[in-house]
Amino acid sequence: MAWDLIDTAAVEEGELALYRQNDIFMIRVNGLELMNGFGHQSETVLGRMAVEVAKVPAPHILIGGLGLGYTLAATAAALKGAGRITVAELSGKVIDWFDRHVAPTVLPERPANLTIVPGDIGAFIRRPDVGPFDVTVLDVDNGPEALVSPRNADLYSSVGLQAFASKLTPNGVILLWSAFEAPDFVTRAEGAGFTVTCTALAAVRRPDLLHYAYVLEPNRQRA
Ligand SMILES: C[S@@+](CC[C@H](N)C(=O)[O-])C[C@H]1O[C@@H](n2cnc3c(N)ncnc32)[C@H](O)[C@@H]1O
Repeated sequence: MAWDLIDTAAVEEGELALYRQNDIFMIRVNGLELMNGFGHQSETVLGRMAVEVAKVPAPHILIGGLGLGYTLAATAAALKGAGRITVAELSGKVIDWFDRHVAPTVLPERPANLTIVPGDIGAFIRRPDVGPFDVTVLDVDNGPEALVSPRNADLYSSVGLQAFASKLTPNGVILLWSAFEAPDFVTRAEGAGFTVTCTALAAVRRPDLLHYAYVLEPNRQRA
């Protein structure tokens, strides 16, 4: 079955496009598939993991970005109304598509503890009025390499990671989704002061296709 084009949006980095097949959606950026709803198991696991790795029962979880909302929906389901969820999404168009087309099947009931903020998550966490977060979830590219925007490389730099760390609670962690193993990134994160653990996430229908969740825990000085 073919994908039907629903809408396109010109963004600074090129073109975003939303496609649908019945109730399943796909987003492409400059013709490259960013995400499709047929293969969202690992994004859903990531959303559950965000609650599992939190060290408090009612965490404030920051998710970047929104995409098709599977990570958000899984986090919301696992929190059961506790805590808070803030989503930072670069594209206002993606937020608009989510509200108008995607949410009715992915997140039919908008949780009261949810805030969606348009804009770059790197700029967002540098705002003085923002944070701290118990867990920051990063799924904005295909892994810790810029895809959506060249500027996203800053997010995965030592400086970028330390900026995220500065907006964590004392026991807070960063959780990062990746479509590939990223040993260079692990070395960089360790050099920037994190202990890194990696979990392979098998797709339910494609056990041969692995995605990865990296947990980055700042090395904290003990008194
Ligand atoms: C792979 S999708 C996220 C998939 C999502 N986890 C899900 O369950 O559908 C990546 C999203 O991150 C957004 N994004 C890319 N760069 C960003 C940035 N710097 N700040 C915030 N959002 C960003 C993209 O517009 C896109 O909506």
